[in-house]
Amino acid sequence: MQRILSGVQPTGSLHLGNYLGALQQWVKLQYNCEALFCVVDYHAITVLQSPRTLKESIYQTIAAYLACGIDPSHSTIFVQSHVSAHTELAWILSCFTPLGWLNRMTQFKEKAGKHKEESKLALYSYPVVMAADILLYRATHVPVGDDQTQHLELARDLASLCNRSMKQTLFVEPELLKNKVAARVMSLRDGKKKMSKSALSPMSRIHLLDSNDEIVQKIKKAKSDSIQGMSYDPVNRPEASNLLMILSAITGESMEKILLTHQGIGFSQFKQILAEALIAHLAPIRNQMIQYLNDKAMLDKLLTNGALKANEIAKQQLKK
Ligand code: AQP
Repeated sequence: MQRILSGVQPTGSLHLGNYLGALQQWVKLQYNCEALFCVVDYHAITVLQSPRTLKESIYQTIAAYLACGIDPSHSTIFVQSHVSAHTELAWILSCFTPLGWLNRMTQFKEKAGKHKEESKLALYSYPVVMAADILLYRATHVPVGDDQTQHLELARDLASLCNRSMKQTLFVEPELLKNKVAARVMSLRDGKKKMSKSALSPMSRIHLLDSNDEIVQKIKKAKSDSIQGMSYDPVNRPEASNLLMILSAITGESMEKILLTHQGIGFSQFKQILAEALIAHLAPIRNQMIQYLNDKAMLDKLLTNGALKANEIAKQQLKK
């Protein structure tokens, strides 16, 4: 039996990148295996958070899981900090982790930037907690966006190192599952940067809770280029390629078909078509999310049940 595990940080409102890179895959995969989806709040606090905002973001993330189609009668949905085994196993794994492995993590380098000395230890060691999140549940597959590839490699390496060191198969080496079409959705303002919750400009991303008008405005103002005709060329035409990829991922049509259908038109018309397709796809998700967010008692109950199930699995592995 395959088991998938994945999560999102409650660091703000979920965006199209989170949806296409992660959640859309989860929904498709959940019925073919055992599935666990968590809200990784311990990861979120590697950057200072206001408790009230963090709590609201946790609810929003759960509401997004449900609205996107995660079925709680089949999948386990829980909050990472409701299962203390995550941080306990993370400590044990950190006793095995060579510093050289963490020094290679590009996300730390990007996030710490020039402020390495003042950066927090948790921002540096967070990939070890992520490894614990995965190894604790003996997950065989981890559906995540492209940006998590290096962290997943670390989890695999740690599983293998611990197994060799202890001369027994304590951990499963998890495999990465990427959305073949949209593993890395790029910023609408800069086609070389990934769409991200923490980017300063909200115009760089489409939130799942954006109104139809906001979607239209953001797509209208999205960067494209002045080259004639449509072509998918992420190296030379990053912004245009990103818009084409989003349309392909959202409609399920192949890139060949998208290019063929829109060959004769300019970007202003293409953007109208893209905005309409996004609204058709995202408006029902937004409406569902709002409904779920109005029923916090239901969300709390769901999380209590999820924590019970997750703790049951985690405690066995921690004991081992
Ligand atoms: N732009 C993206 N394209 C495809 N997948 C993406 N993911 C994130 N951004 C993109 C995937 O979404 C899942 C949850 O991500 P996360 O919230 O845990 O953290 P992140 O990867 O650091 O995402 P953000 O939005 O950039 O958050 P901040 O700004 O807070 O750091 C993961 O599977 C991720 O791959």
